[in-house]
This record gives sequence, structure tokens and C-alpha cells, in this order.
Amino acid sequence: MYEGQQLRTVQQHILQEQTRFPGATGEFSWLLSGITLAAKMIQSKVRRAGLTDLLGSMDQTNVQGEVQQKLDVYSNEALMHCLSLRQSIGILASEENERPITVNFKSPSAKYAVIFDPLDGSSNIDVNVSVGTTFSILRRPEGEDSTDVEKWVLQPGATQVAAGYVVYGSSTILVYSVGNGVHGFTLEPGVGAFLLSHESIKMPSQGTYYSTNEGYVDQMPAPYPEFIQDLRQGKLGRPYSARYIGSMVADFHRTLLKGGIFLYPPTEAQSSGKLRLLYEANPIAFIAEQAGGIATDGNQRILDIQPTTIHQRTPLVVGSQVEMQAFANAVPAMAESVN
Ligand code: AHG
Ligand code: MN
Ligand code: MN
Repeated sequence: MYEGQQLRTVQQHILQEQTRFPGATGEFSWLLSGITLAAKMIQSKVRRAGLTDLLGSMDQTNVQGEVQQKLDVYSNEALMHCLSLRQSIGILASEENERPITVNFKSPSAKYAVIFDPLDGSSNIDVNVSVGTTFSILRRPEGEDSTDVEKWVLQPGATQVAAGYVVYGSSTILVYSVGNGVHGFTLEPGVGAFLLSHESIKMPSQGTYYSTNEGYVDQMPAPYPEFIQDLRQGKLGRPYSARYIGSMVADFHRTLLKGGIFLYPPTEAQSSGKLRLLYEANPIAFIAEQAGGIATDGNQRILDIQPTTIHQRTPLVVGSQVEMQAFANAVPAMAESVN
């Protein structure tokens, strides 16, 4: 078993990465271990989705009178619980909470804010389709403003010190970057450890798939419908196929490994699209760029957007160099942010 291979766990990898930062104290790897622990808790619940009602009704002895929680609430609580004990964390912000949660932020030992979507694609849970978790880690703001909760969270994505995601798919994979390439770790369920399975991931410069909710095509502004048609008709050298899961993190993961393009455009119903800047688009854009890809909102680089509110939405177009250059050419105002 595993003959000839050197096994590397995500914990070992993080510790190794940390030695690149002078004066590193181990706090950062302790923080990330909170995320990996929560991911294991979430995946174990996700794997039992559909059974919980059955088993719950059999379990008559539950003196707590526990009511089965929705998985996105459970996932949120798992992350909150695992992270709130880390001294280095000052603020936790989540899709599931209207306001950021202040943990320890007035203490000088609090250095980071963690912002996350605990369960992305949760409507797919009931039909056994992949879901995920996304996270973004920001440093405490400089200066006297450090007691202003919004200042901690409303920072452009380019300032992320780390970001990543987990896909609960045919296996569970954690993908992360501390700004030094992108690495993927697959959960070995028997051992309970994330093992390095995808080292230094690079997005292919061109793929064969586009990924968008084509049901909205009549509601999309120019140049989206035309651009999608160009892809289908082979204007980029080959006729593209479509893939759309409806879990951003899973659609992006495919795009990361196989190349191509993912688009969640503005629509008539939602003029800024649906996805959230701080905990969906930013971590995905960070990973995409670290892997050699590009991410834009149609006007500018996602990572350059100055956020104004915690749950703000943004259009997101992310993918390989060839498709993104073609998209930029279709949106003249955008060429600058891509080149
Ligand atoms: P969430 O489950 O966190 O609310 O996110 C769902 C999002 C995202 O995962 C996906 O890309 C998008 O919803 C799909 O939306 P449409 O059904 O409008 O295509
Ligand atoms: Mn989501
Ligand atoms: Mn969610």
C-alpha cells in the first residue's frame, strides 16, 4: 500500500509552507487546522444526507430532543465552533450570519478574519449532487481602525493571505493556496486525513467546457449570449460542450482541473448576478489566479473590487487564459483588467 510514495498530509504541508514566512509562530497552521477539522465534520454529515430522517426517527432515546438541523446550518456551526477557539482569529463572517461574529478581535493576538460560505450549492444536497465550502482569510487591518469590524472584512480580495475550498463530491477534496501555488488534498476516509493528491495545480490554458446557467440566456446582457454562442459554434477553434452542476465550487473545481470557463452573469432579475463577492468570488478568484487563470466581474479583476457591504453580490467570470482573453475581447471595457 502506498508503496514508493511519500504521503503528505495537509497539516504537514501547511507547516512546511509556513516556514516561508519569517517569524511564523504556528498560529496560521493552527487556524487552518480548524478549517480542515470542520470540513471533516461537514463531509461526514453530507455523506449521511438522506439517512438522517430515517435514523432520527429510529432514535427515540434522544433526551436532548434534538431536531435535525439543515445541513447549511450545521456546516456553519461546525466552522464557527472549530474556528472560534483559535486565538489568532478576530472575526468570523459567514453567508449564514447577517453580521460578522467578533471572536477575539480586540486582543492583540487576533490577527486574522475568516470569511466563508459553509455549504455552497446546498439545494443540490437533496439530489445527491456535489456541494462544497469556500473560505477566505484576511489579515487584521493596520492602525487604529482595527476595532472597526467592517474594516476587517471589507478588504479587496487581493489582500487575502490564504483562500480555498472543499468539494464534497465523489471524494472529498480540499484545495488551498497561501499565495504560493495551489494544492489539493483528498480525504482518505479510513484514516481521516487529507493527503496531498494534486500538487501545484495549473489550470490548462484552454478547456473544452463552458459552464453557465443557460436557462437565463435571454435575460443576460450583451455580450454574454453572443459570447456563449461563439463558444458553441467553435469560434475559439473547437465547439465547446456545456457542463453546469449548480454548485459554484464544484463547477469551478472542474474548470480548475480541466480548463474552460465558468460564468455567472448579471441577469434581468439580479443585476449583480447571484454570487457573493467576499466568500464565493474572492476565494475562487484567488485560487484561479494562483493556478494561472483569470477572474473578472465583466468590468474589472475580481480581486481589485473594493467591497462596500459584507453580503454584496458580483457577476463572476472565471477560467482559463484562452477563454478569458476571448471574453475580454468581447467586452472592450474589460480588456485592460485581463491583460
Ligand atoms: P448557496 O447554496 O451557497 O446559496 O450557493 C448557491 C449558488 C452557487 O453554488 C451556484 O453557482 C448558484 O447558486 C446556482 O444558481 P442558479 O440556480 O441561479 O444557477
Ligand atoms: Mn454559495
Ligand atoms: Mn451557502
